[in-house]
Amino acid sequence: MPVKMIIATGINDEIGKDNDLLWDIPEDMQYFRETTSGSAVLMGRKTHDSIGRLLPNRTNYILSRTEGDNMVSKCQADELCKQYNNSDATLWIIGGEQVYEMFKHEVRQLHWTLVDESYPDADAHMDMSFVSEEFYRLYGLELCDLASVGVYERF
Ligand SMILES: NC(=O)c1ccc[n+]([C@@H]2O[C@H](COP(=O)([O-])OP(=O)(O)OC[C@H]3O[C@@H](n4cnc5c(N)ncnc54)[C@H](OP(=O)(O)O)[C@@H]3O)[C@@H](O)[C@H]2O)c1
Repeated sequence: MPVKMIIATGINDEIGKDNDLLWDIPEDMQYFRETTSGSAVLMGRKTHDSIGRLLPNRTNYILSRTEGDNMVSKCQADELCKQYNNSDATLWIIGGEQVYEMFKHEVRQLHWTLVDESYPDADAHMDMSFVSEEFYRLYGLELCDLASVGVYERF
């Protein structure tokens, strides 16, 4: 499968604060690990800083205006999306805010964990309203009391 997005949001589109996540949900971390393992991932440089290392068992692409190992420019990332959308291999868009917003129109499948809380202090958000217009729901998966995953396919 081609370009996919994996994201977790609070009920008001919150995704982060102080370049970190807003929650600690081991089940969701495990879901992220298992779902993206063996594929390629594209993340922003700030998300890479937040993770603090390359993700193992995955090809890591890091969007940045600075050149370096694993770093890609916007132009190169656009080209990657084009390639993956014409292939059987998967490229996961894994955030953060700038990267989700920039590549949302490339996404063919979305794995969206909805965390059933609001986070008024959040400083990173992703407007998910494009989903209701452009995607249909494939299935839902209960993770824990706090969060559940919905998988959506683009029409
Ligand atoms: N809840 C979730 O599912 C989830 C997932 C991932 C991340 N997050 C959260 O999201 C937040 C980070 O998001 P963010 O928006 O601040 O940062 P980000 O999207 O992770 O990274 C932003 C960086 O991308 C690079 N970039 C942006 N536009 C570019 C362009 N046109 N050309 C080349 N490079 C470009 C720049 O890197 P340079 O400065 O190096 O040029 C920029 O600083 C954190 O709080 C993190 O925890 C949440």
